[in-house]
Amino acid sequence: MTLRDLIECKRDGGEIPAAEWHAFTRALAAGTLADYQVSALLMAIYFRGLTARETTALMDGMLASGRSLDLRHLPVGRVDKHSTGGVGDKVSIALAPIVAACGVAVPMMSGRGLGHTGGTLDKLESIPGFRTRIPLADATRQLERLHCALIGQSAEIAPADRVLYALRDATATVESIPLISASIMSKKMAESLTGLVLDVKTGAGSFMPDLDDAITLAETMIALGARHGVPVVALLTNMDAPLGEACGNANEVAEAIDLLKGRGPADLRELTLRMAAEMLVLGGADATREAGYGRARDAVDSGAALERFRAIVAAQGGDPQVCDDPTALLPQPALRLPFLAESDGVVQRVEPRAIGRGITAMGGGRTTMADVVDPAVGFRITTRPGDTVRTGDTLAIIEARDTECAEAGRAALAGAVVIGPTPVHPRPLISHRITTGGVEQLA
Ligand code: URA
Repeated sequence: MTLRDLIECKRDGGEIPAAEWHAFTRALAAGTLADYQVSALLMAIYFRGLTARETTALMDGMLASGRSLDLRHLPVGRVDKHSTGGVGDKVSIALAPIVAACGVAVPMMSGRGLGHTGGTLDKLESIPGFRTRIPLADATRQLERLHCALIGQSAEIAPADRVLYALRDATATVESIPLISASIMSKKMAESLTGLVLDVKTGAGSFMPDLDDAITLAETMIALGARHGVPVVALLTNMDAPLGEACGNANEVAEAIDLLKGRGPADLRELTLRMAAEMLVLGGADATREAGYGRARDAVDSGAALERFRAIVAAQGGDPQVCDDPTALLPQPALRLPFLAESDGVVQRVEPRAIGRGITAMGGGRTTMADVVDPAVGFRITTRPGDTVRTGDTLAIIEARDTECAEAGRAALAGAVVIGPTPVHPRPLISHRITTGGVEQLA
């Protein structure tokens, strides 16, 4: 079939055969397709969707378009985690060394921030010298030695996805459950995993605000993992408010280090330990999630997880002293200004999208992949939906480069933090757990 035939088939609601998806992804990686035709196909997929067979074939084709990180020789389980993206989400930075310190390998392949959400790679690169672009051979050696590497998607992994993602971004077709699922899983299945944990965000600040959509996304990715024999567990987590207090880049690394020292905000610690528990079970280190949770908590309390993070930072070119004195080593804002409550009442909302867009307006995020991120700017948001506050209480600290930047931050907070008269009942941190066995409501 020609690409025109594929567009016509999908436009009319037909099913494209697997062999055609494989030919399509090979041609995508080779750069031989016309952008306007691929774009038309993407829009047809956006409206018509893909069958389960088509989603699998697209994922398999994108996976086969590149190389894999072959870790099957490691004597331990290999488990990664993926978050669908949120604000203040620095879980990966602490989670990977915790799980590695507990004896399960974590080939953590992360992304950059785009839109209102932050990216783990941008955050890690605020550590002086830290490299996230690592050839697969070097990442493999590091995984053999430390059981963990914190890297970006290299050009070698799923190149067809890279081409397709850029076109999806340019044609407003990112928000398609089969396209998102095939894209994410084509990269995860290149890591020779024995398990994968998904943090699927729901709520106002997520890409899937609707609960049913979030569940469908999780189920689609779980089914794709099962096709490759990789068990996938998804936790549905609340993104109605930022996670933890720090929102930005360098300040999020500092908060993750705090967590590794046994401190830090309770929601961040709880989500990190719950994800670690799932990973330790999937990696074969523990028989139950309760045992995994205990092992992960002990790795934090004993300092083993912090020591592992220190070794990872050093291996990837960063200054390990960042663990001892984050303030001296991480980029700091020129200004720290309080943001105060202007009325008495109950905090109704701390709107993550407005916070994320505020960080971008201050220079700490991206609107295009070419933008350069200022790692020092952002917020420390100490208030939560449901808090009772009084006029003059400090709700957040604005961390800014200069007064103009601080004004942008203040305007964002003024729109994001809403105080009102009514009591608020925030959604639970983790609402559902989804596996091939079904959807379990946790709270
Ligand atoms: N992350 C990806 O890698 N792909 C998507 O489609 C969305 C998020």
